[in-house]
Amino acid sequence: MGQGRLCNSPSCPNIGPGVAEAPGTPYAMGVPTAVLCLAWALALACAHPLTQSKTEAAGGGHPHGAEPPSNDTDLAQLCADEGRFDATTLSENGTMLFFRGEEVWESSHGGFRLHARPLAASWPEVGGPIDAALRLYGWQHPQEHQSLYLFQGEQVWAYFGGQLQPGFPRRIGDEFPGVPGGLDAAVECHPEECGGKTILFFKGDTVYAFDLALRVTKPRSWPGLGPCDAALRWLERYYCLRGTHFQRFNPLTGEVPPSYPRDLRDYFIPCPGRGHWNASWGAAGDRCSEMPFQALLSDDTGRIYAFRGGLSFRLDSLRDGHHAWPLGQTWPGLEGEVDAAFAWDGRTYLIQGSQVSIFLSGQGYRRVLGYPRALQDELGVSSADAAFTCPHSANLYLITGDHIRLVNLTQTPRQAGEPVPLPHDHVDGAMCTNDGVFLFHGPSYHQYHSVAQLLGAKELPSQSIATHFFHCPQ
Ligand SMILES: *[C@@H]1O[C@H](CO)[C@@H](O)[C@H](O)[C@H]1NC(C)=O
Ligand SMILES: *[C@@H]1O[C@H](CO)[C@@H](O)[C@H](O)[C@H]1NC(C)=O
Ligand SMILES: *[C@@H]1O[C@H](CO)[C@@H](O)[C@H](O)[C@H]1NC(C)=O
Ligand SMILES: *[C@@H]1O[C@H](CO)[C@@H](O)[C@H](O)[C@H]1NC(C)=O
Repeated sequence: MGQGRLCNSPSCPNIGPGVAEAPGTPYAMGVPTAVLCLAWALALACAHPLTQSKTEAAGGGHPHGAEPPSNDTDLAQLCADEGRFDATTLSENGTMLFFRGEEVWESSHGGFRLHARPLAASWPEVGGPIDAALRLYGWQHPQEHQSLYLFQGEQVWAYFGGQLQPGFPRRIGDEFPGVPGGLDAAVECHPEECGGKTILFFKGDTVYAFDLALRVTKPRSWPGLGPCDAALRWLERYYCLRGTHFQRFNPLTGEVPPSYPRDLRDYFIPCPGRGHWNASWGAAGDRCSEMPFQALLSDDTGRIYAFRGGLSFRLDSLRDGHHAWPLGQTWPGLEGEVDAAFAWDGRTYLIQGSQVSIFLSGQGYRRVLGYPRALQDELGVSSADAAFTCPHSANLYLITGDHIRLVNLTQTPRQAGEPVPLPHDHVDGAMCTNDGVFLFHGPSYHQYHSVAQLLGAKELPSQSIATHFFHCPQ
């Protein structure tokens, strides 16, 4: 078997990497929106990456910029009081916005900070408290990408790139026929979750579901949810805020899962000494720290995870912030470090030492009964430093030291092919997407167009993980 060939058997002719397929049409600009939030529990806010930069281009995806100084007095007051928010939404720039009276609070530092500023500083035309807010993006018209809608009384204001759009403010009923003024809350619902592009408007006990394609409104009654002061879509999940509490809800049925309501200050508001804000994560939890990742995972739906310590980060979630969560919140029951990971056939394989756990993805991840199992029994190898499958391919590549081996996942029992040398002495983690094969080492990664290029190549120059995947300042 020659260089550039990886086979299970001498007869297998071709190791096409399967990375040539065109990516599915993403709903957001360049961002796969089938990005599902996987945390069972609401795993929180540990990572909105975007600072309150006034210099970045809307949708430019480079959240650099001056960080406003933290005002701990402000935050302490917010955490101490029992007030409610008028509205909440993600901003055009992927930060979380909480509106209260004449002020807006914006997340920064990966969600570890909230800063207040006058609402009028960003949206001078609105003037005064708002009733509801939402962010629309990925609709047909480029103009509507990243638009922010603010509602007050009978009127709606639409902003794009921070600018009020022509023709606004408009009467709410003119922009959204059938939707009343004096709203309590509003949230956009994406086709993946609502079956069509929809906006949910809340007023009292009634929810008005506005279909953006048909431009019709259907009133709904969701007694299990109750009135909402504010509503938010975040990483494919839907939240209704009321006072200092919030509930998650199903945007089609209004159903609320068990264990809600929960206190906002344990999740969305980074209150000192409360909640998921865990300083002991240290540099591992800071997306820009340049600590190595032990494993990466990309699946056919476009979700990408990076594993470091007992945490995992989403890499494909720029529009909603990047997030670090304890492993167990995404993969129930999983603890410790992940050494290698890959996805195949709707399943996620997480390798820890000589063991592998398999998780089924659906509404969150669920571990397959009987796992973890010995890696040797499952894949025919005893350990792996890194692993990857390319989109829609059953070829698994396992990397140990400076060699790579192929496993045909459709065969049973599975056997690893002969080791083939790599142009790298060691890699920490690897993944393969429609953009090619990525090998990660320390703070850097190397990108190859295909498996064939990887095997034929000399080591290609490296690039920074923090800069390119996490949009950190250089
Ligand atoms: C922080 O907020 C408090 C209360 O709103 C205010 O009095 C103080 O001047 C602020 N400090 C800074 C540095 O902005
Ligand atoms: C997002 O970025 C745009 C473009 O720089 C800016 O005008 C706007 O104010 C930012 N939005 C928020 C909510 O910070
Ligand atoms: C913080 O994380 C450490 C290590 O994961 C854990 O032992 C500790 O209980 C956490 N603390 C809080 C308050 O969650
Ligand atoms: C993997 O195994 C299946 C079933 O034995 C076979 O049909 C397929 O050609 C194999 N793929 C490769 C790349 O060897």
